[in-house]
Amino acid sequence: MGGGRTTLVDNREIDRRTDKITQEVIAIRRAIHENPELGFEEHETAARVAKLLTEQGIPFQTGIGGTGVVGMIEGVAPGPTVAIRADMDALPMDEESGVPFASNTPGKMHACGHDAHTAIALGAAMVLVGMRNQLKGRVKLIFQPAEELLVGAEAMIKDGVLENPNIDFALGYHNLPSMAAGKVGYHGDVTYASADAFDITLRGVSGHGAHPHMAVDVITAAAYFITELQTVVSREISPVHPAVVSIGKIVGGTARNILPDTLSLEGTVRTLDPQARVQVEEAMRRLLEGFKTGMRIGYKLDYRNGVPVMRNDPKVLASVAKSARDILGDDAVIELTEYSMASEDFAYFTERVPSVHLRIGSKIDGLDTAAHRSNYDCNELAIPTGIRVLVRSALDLLGSNS
Ligand code: NI
Repeated sequence: MGGGRTTLVDNREIDRRTDKITQEVIAIRRAIHENPELGFEEHETAARVAKLLTEQGIPFQTGIGGTGVVGMIEGVAPGPTVAIRADMDALPMDEESGVPFASNTPGKMHACGHDAHTAIALGAAMVLVGMRNQLKGRVKLIFQPAEELLVGAEAMIKDGVLENPNIDFALGYHNLPSMAAGKVGYHGDVTYASADAFDITLRGVSGHGAHPHMAVDVITAAAYFITELQTVVSREISPVHPAVVSIGKIVGGTARNILPDTLSLEGTVRTLDPQARVQVEEAMRRLLEGFKTGMRIGYKLDYRNGVPVMRNDPKVLASVAKSARDILGDDAVIELTEYSMASEDFAYFTERVPSVHLRIGSKIDGLDTAAHRSNYDCNELAIPTGIRVLVRSALDLLGSNS
C-alpha cells in the first residue's frame, strides 16, 4: 500500500484529465439535481450513470441492491481492488434554493448533495479509465441507492457488491457545507455514530379521568419513563463516550377525560461506541421492568440495531491522507475534531472492509445553509476536488506508485 518516496503517478496528469471533464461532470450533477429521486426509486439516475459508463467503455451491472449500479475498471496489471462508493438518492422535501437547475418535482430535492456525490464518482471513473495503463488492480465503482433510508448499503452487500472480486479497500465521502470548497477533511478514527431505533408500547388499564384510582394510568407512567430515560446517558454511560437517546414520537389517548389503556413511544439511539449502544438497550429494558412493579405498567420494547458506528481504518487513512495532501497541498487537508451524531450507511462497508470516509468542503460563501435544508446548495468546486483526491487515493492504495 502506498508508494515510496518516488511519485510515478503524475499529479499534473490527474489535474489535466480532471480539468478536461469537469464541465461535463457538473452538467451531469445539475441534471441529476433537477430530477431528484427518493431511495430505491433512482431509476433515471441509475440510467444516467449506466449511460456514462457505457460511453466510457466501463463494464457495469445494474439492479444491485434494487437500483444500485456497479462498474469495474480493470487495470493493465494485476493487483488489489479498491471501491469508490457514491450515494444517489434525494430527500422528500420542497426545494427553495433558487438555482436554475432546481428540482422539477415538488416534494423531492437533492438537499444532501448526493447528486454531487454521484457526479464525483463518475468523474473519478472518467479520469481513472484514461489512466488504466497505470492501474495495478481494479477500481469498483459503487453507485448506491437509499442512503437516506440507511438501508441501501446493506441491500447492495446482500446482493454481493463486496465480492467477485472481493474489495480490499473502500473509499466513501460526503460533502460538508460548513467547510471551504477546495478542502477535504477526515476524522482520525470514528466518523459517524451508530443509529438504533426503538418502539415502546406501554400498557395500563383504561378508565374515567375522574376516577384514576380505578384505572392504571399509562400517561403518567410515560411521563416518568421519559424523565428516567434521561438518566441513561447522564448517569450510566461514561461521560467521555458521547451518546444520545431521543424520543421523537408519542401516541396515546383519545379524549381529555379518558385514561387510555396503551401509549406508544418511538425514538432513536446514537452512540460512537459499540459498548454504549448495548448499555443503552439494557438500561432501557431495566427501567421498563421497574415500571411493572412500580406503576403496574406492562410494556413491549422493540429495539432494533441499525447502522453501526463508522470508523476509518488507520492504515488506509494514513495512505489516503498522504494522497490528499500530495495532490491538494497540506493546507487543504484538515483533520476534523468535532464528531457528528448523525449516521451514514457506508458504515456497513467500513465494518467489513478497511475503509476511509472523507468530507469534501462544499461551502458557498455568503450562503447560510446545511444538509437537509430547503435552501441547500453545493459549491461545485467540491466536484473536481473530490475527483482529484479519489483518483490519487485509489492509485496510491493500489500501489500504482510503487
Ligand atoms: Ni447525505
